[in-house]
Amino acid sequence: MRVFITGGTGYLGRALLRLGPTEAVGASYFRQPPGEPKVAWMWMDICDAKGVAQALERFSPDVVIHTAYGKDSPEDLEAIIAQGTAHVARACRALGARLIHLSTDQVFDGEAPPYAESAPPHPITPYGQAKLRAEEQVQEILPSATIVRTSLIWGLSPLDPTSRMVLEMADGQRKGGLFCDEYRSFIYVEDLARALWELVERPLAGVLHIGGPQALSRLEFGQRIAAFHGRDPRALPVQRRADFPEPRPGNCALDSSRAAALLRTRLRGVEEVLRQQGR
Ligand SMILES: NC(=O)c1ccc[n+]([C@@H]2O[C@H](COP(=O)([O-])OP(=O)(O)OC[C@H]3O[C@@H](n4cnc5c(N)ncnc54)[C@H](OP(=O)(O)O)[C@@H]3O)[C@@H](O)[C@H]2O)c1
Repeated sequence: MRVFITGGTGYLGRALLRLGPTEAVGASYFRQPPGEPKVAWMWMDICDAKGVAQALERFSPDVVIHTAYGKDSPEDLEAIIAQGTAHVARACRALGARLIHLSTDQVFDGEAPPYAESAPPHPITPYGQAKLRAEEQVQEILPSATIVRTSLIWGLSPLDPTSRMVLEMADGQRKGGLFCDEYRSFIYVEDLARALWELVERPLAGVLHIGGPQALSRLEFGQRIAAFHGRDPRALPVQRRADFPEPRPGNCALDSSRAAALLRTRLRGVEEVLRQQGR
């Protein structure tokens, strides 16, 4: 089985490469240099339809795990997330490859959690809207694809960007605050990566939710991470969604019971992982 990972230099992409097989794996990089030497690295700009098709044709994958994305600007949202995903889906269709596409809990408005796969999406942020357009493109171009909606991805080694931000705030090196009224199904990066490798072996058409079982606010998450890393959780600055100028979904907790029943990989909550990794 030949597997290609778009976004091999990203946080999830690196975990996939760490935890997956060491043979017949390819991955793309964009701005960062490629990593792991055993991987067949290819430079790829997801916005370039021809380049995407050529790179995938060269590697000739059986399965593509599409994690690459960017959301720095409104142009990125359309070109990278919506159109870029369509380029990947078309290239997969042309090659007869299966596609596992990474999507987000932000396709929901946060008003009626927990969200099962059957819940109607209603994104309220430009990012969520672009990710929903990407899902729609995938479903139209390649109905056999698996669309994995996940939640905030965290990990211990290396630290994820949210945990890094928490520690900087705890150390007084960063301003801002952690939302006490924004809830997510934080997913441990290794659980997510292992679940995705299982899906490589197990074709599944349609949407699958893969989130952690413990929904926490960003503040509650931050307090646990700060304490784990020996910081004072009470030092963390707090903010509310109402303090933020743009709308943000309040509670995008995912109902991942289908994935839990389907997969061998156990999806663990933040506290369970921290207890197991505890010092
Ligand atoms: N992180 C989360 O908490 C979270 C939550 C829900 C869903 N997701 C979804 O999970 C997926 C992976 O997230 P992540 O946190 O691992 O992302 P990430 O760390 O930000 O990595 C993004 C990846 O995309 C690549 N990339 C950016 N622009 C590109 C372009 N124009 N052409 C080709 N590649 C490009 C980057 O390459 P370079 O670094 O080499 O430039 C990098 O490898 C995304 O689809 C995201 O929507 C993430």
